[in-house]
Amino acid sequence: MTSAILGTGSALPEKIVTNDDLAKIVETSDAWISERTGIRSRRIAVGETTTTLSIDAGRRALEDAGISPEDIGLILVATLTPDGSMPNTACKVQAALGAVNAMCYELNAACSGFMYGVQTAHAFICSGIIKYALVIGAETLSKILDWTDRGTCVLFGDGAGAAIIGASKKGIISVEGGADGSKGAFLTTGNAPLCNPYTKHEATNPYVEMDGQEVFKFAVRKIPSIVQALTEKVDIEINQLDCILLHQANQRIIQTAAKRLKLPEELFPMNLDQYGNTSAASVAILLDEVHRSGKIKSGDLIALAGFGGGLTWAGILMYWI
Ligand code: ACO
Repeated sequence: MTSAILGTGSALPEKIVTNDDLAKIVETSDAWISERTGIRSRRIAVGETTTTLSIDAGRRALEDAGISPEDIGLILVATLTPDGSMPNTACKVQAALGAVNAMCYELNAACSGFMYGVQTAHAFICSGIIKYALVIGAETLSKILDWTDRGTCVLFGDGAGAAIIGASKKGIISVEGGADGSKGAFLTTGNAPLCNPYTKHEATNPYVEMDGQEVFKFAVRKIPSIVQALTEKVDIEINQLDCILLHQANQRIIQTAAKRLKLPEELFPMNLDQYGNTSAASVAILLDEVHRSGKIKSGDLIALAGFGGGLTWAGILMYWI
């Protein structure tokens, strides 16, 4: 017995912001952004929040799986941009969906968060603690971007993706993950310094800061090694994979990973041209899109892999059921 993804959903803000729109607020161009990253537009939350996007994606995943909310034993929301710290986003999703029997918490592993969440749900289900889990990756990164910094504000977008995980004979066959906290300074956001009557108030920086080239080097090394580890653990050849869904940070990272794995680019679907980098939501949104468009079918062997702040990384190998 293992666990499998039984249904997916996603939700995106209505507002589309193109590269040309950004060129009106920072010194950049459509040519620079699309050539360096592959990104052409992104969705930016105006009326939506991390919570409403999570609820909408979660509801769609429940409908897709045909599971009733009361059956869910765990709701996990992976995010680095919650709307507040308490109550956590998963509790708000629980209340909105009526998933009254669920434990609810958030996790933050940056862009690896959805894969960390699915692995946690897999462990809960395989150990018999719960039957079904709702795992959501959701972000409104637009609220932690410095909109005067062209080096970061052009890269990210808002959105949410979700999956229902449940016990199954076929499904997840291999997982991989890790972190290297010593490289944490390459990608940071916000700080919450001590602030009480006994401390001096320090200046705070709430924004995403990134050493793009270091992150790029890390990603192109790490992604192929995650996919290799996932397949080696279960004696599967890499060329048996039907589809590889990678974190949607940069088209060049995905193309380099494909080259290093000696696999055709067609095996690596992308949607970063439309949504930019949505951090914890990116693989979940892409999974929902390939599922709903029929690009993956029952029996396909699928790898998910991502990397992000921490630095963290994670991957999952599974049969689609
Ligand atoms: N428009 C125009 N020019 C720009 C822009 C912009 N938006 N941003 C930077 N530039 C300029 C720089 O100022 C620099 O100019 P200079 O040569 O005069 O100093 C020049 O372009 C080159 O800048 P680099 O930073 O060297 O550009 P690079 O080719 O490394 O591309 C990029 C930058 C796209 C950020 C790349 O490094 C990258 O994709 N890194 C990985 C980032 C990533 O994956 N982040 C997310 C990871 S995890 C998570 O999702 C949270």
